[in-house]
Amino acid sequence: MEKFARFKFMPPIPLGKEGTRICDSKEQRLFSREAAAECAVLLKNENGALPLKNEKIALFGMGAYDFLICGRGSGEIYTCYHQNFYDGVKDKEQNGKLSVYEPISDIYNAVYMPAREKNQKDPNLYLQELEIADQDINTAAANSDTAVIVISRVSGEGGDRKAEKGDYYLSDTEVSLVERVSAAFKKTVVILNVGAVLDLSLLANNPNISAILCGWMPGSEGGKALADLLVGDKNPSGRLTDTFTVSYDAYPGAAQFNADDLSLAYTEDIFVGYRYFETLPNKKEQVIYPFGYGLSYTSFETGNVAATQDGDKITVTATVKNTGDCAGKQVLQLYCSAPQGVLGKPSKQLVAFAKTDLLAKGDSQELSLCFDIKDIASYDDLGKIEKSAYLLEKGDYEILLGVNVRDTESVYTYTLNDNRIVFKTVPRCVPSKLEKRLLADGSFEALPQSDYVMDYGKRESLGGTAPAEQINFDKVGETISLKDFIAQLTDEELLDLTIGKEGFGLCNTACFAGNKRLDIPNVPTADGPAGIRLWPQTGCYTTCWPSATALASSWDIDLVYNVSRAAAMEAKECNFGIWLTPALNIHKDPLCGRNFEYFSEDPLISGKMAAAIVGGMQSLKISACIKHFACNNKEKERLKSDSRVSERALREIYLKGFEICVKESDPWSVMTTYNKLNGTYTPENYDLITGILRGEWGFKGMVSTDWDTLSNKVNVIKAGNDMIMPSCDKRPLCEALEKGELTRADLEACVERILSTYLKLV
Ligand code: BGC
Repeated sequence: MEKFARFKFMPPIPLGKEGTRICDSKEQRLFSREAAAECAVLLKNENGALPLKNEKIALFGMGAYDFLICGRGSGEIYTCYHQNFYDGVKDKEQNGKLSVYEPISDIYNAVYMPAREKNQKDPNLYLQELEIADQDINTAAANSDTAVIVISRVSGEGGDRKAEKGDYYLSDTEVSLVERVSAAFKKTVVILNVGAVLDLSLLANNPNISAILCGWMPGSEGGKALADLLVGDKNPSGRLTDTFTVSYDAYPGAAQFNADDLSLAYTEDIFVGYRYFETLPNKKEQVIYPFGYGLSYTSFETGNVAATQDGDKITVTATVKNTGDCAGKQVLQLYCSAPQGVLGKPSKQLVAFAKTDLLAKGDSQELSLCFDIKDIASYDDLGKIEKSAYLLEKGDYEILLGVNVRDTESVYTYTLNDNRIVFKTVPRCVPSKLEKRLLADGSFEALPQSDYVMDYGKRESLGGTAPAEQINFDKVGETISLKDFIAQLTDEELLDLTIGKEGFGLCNTACFAGNKRLDIPNVPTADGPAGIRLWPQTGCYTTCWPSATALASSWDIDLVYNVSRAAAMEAKECNFGIWLTPALNIHKDPLCGRNFEYFSEDPLISGKMAAAIVGGMQSLKISACIKHFACNNKEKERLKSDSRVSERALREIYLKGFEICVKESDPWSVMTTYNKLNGTYTPENYDLITGILRGEWGFKGMVSTDWDTLSNKVNVIKAGNDMIMPSCDKRPLCEALEKGELTRADLEACVERILSTYLKLV
């Protein structure tokens, strides 16, 4: 096949065994089901209520029938079938593992089925909770053993969730259903079919609720996977990647979130998620389920703990033994408690984690958790010790091993006698409108109001020499160097290469630009992250995988790598070159509408998961496009809003996951955001793109805007954001070129990075 044929002709070539299609194949569906089971988190299980033991269940809650496999917006994946939790449970009935008390299901199905038939093609169909009469509940309780209630929450791109009943909090109908059902039944189990954190205080504290299983948005086979867990065909092994608290107001950013549409003050600074609850006075008791928490149907013991230090590397090994009655997996988590010092620190930070294989009853496995002490250096943005430096303050660094952030034991102490500078840089992305920030003792520190002005620098021409006769793109690296190839392009052609081109065939998200004359392909992109997003009207369907939060909750890097590879095979079969994923913004606030597309409140787990995804897809030559860089932490007014964040919080929390991902997995492209960062739109942010991403981290790939950004396109190019997507008005760029505000050298720099990326795709 010709070198770039996939992008030029989109050949319908199946890539599966013996000429079969991979997209949405039986094997892919099976793997999606397996993955979904690994992601669910068992939050409560009184007296071994789960797994069910051949019980007759009554299935309540609209979510059991109108089950959500994924979120809304560009992260929504269309499948050719609807399979809900009720279907999963019916499968188990067929296998003799439980039975279903149908009169309750009949009530829900009477609403669900006609609505689904009528709205077969309406992806936004989402039915509200039904009122169920006391009499129906009581008759069901008299005729079955256990009630299972599914609570569902939809969310998506373009809007944030609300701290209101029916969204973050349970609706009155849900509360009434839960209270009446759990009072009537001997046993009540709640399944959560949600994208992100919601208020669980009523469920956690209700003694009549025996079990809570958080199944997330689990992908196309999630209904079956959750039924596998319900009856114990699978054992839950997920752990939370976020903190669940007593109320929304308990979160440190709650007062600021959407207080002002056009800006967001990151006043809680580095104290995001568990860093806040574990550190600040009297906050621990506000946590219902801590970060890292999750139960199993079996029990484990950790023994033979040993710690060694080799220079800056600390390794902790431990043996995990399954001491219970069924096979299961355990996750060990390593935290570091740094000295408070002058800068102040979170009292615990996740530094490493590892998951066992499936351990049979009585079996053991040794796990090894390793990290570099330099990775938890603090960033001194105000110069309290050394300005613009990452540094380790002198004192004792306690290394803690545990099974969640709360349950840890000290296993090693690393002592530093003097302050140590790890990396020195210069002020970048300096805030000018963030007035104060939170400190570890709960007080606030006033921040200087800087009048910092960003400098766009100057670029040198690549200095290539055009060949006497035209040479096409497929010969780059063979008969011509990239530099000389680029010398053949006119200024206008260079400019055209920085502006996205219309999608065709299966591609609904536009292409990264090409050039007809020199046969540079337009490279089709596809959205994610829960799979390859195609329009349903194409008639071509793909597999929907568990959402990013769900995948991260598996704490299983290998699983996530393999899911990414499996999904990328579908991207390849559909002839995409770039999959617009993973998305790794921090769960700053539980209400951000796109949290389900992101991994966690913690940057380490976000970075590691993103790196696994990048590794999986790029092993198949599908380019990742890690997004949204950076601080896209709310959806309301995302095109205009200014994220105001200290340099320290930016580097230690919001950029850290990107940094880990870039350094560990070398993503070939990055997507900037819609929002501004400290007053400058991120695609125009030279400091962010050229200074930090490329300069400090050594990123070699290309940078794309998010779709239809409001940023100034001349600045975008000067800042080093190479591709403007999905397109833009060319005139201001041409004018800037004529006036010399934009130079050929600026464009050459972008095009070199764009074309280097394309060359990796074949
Ligand atoms: C989203 C991106 C997405 C892009 C293309 C934007 O609205 O923010 O995440 O990849 O659209 O669909």
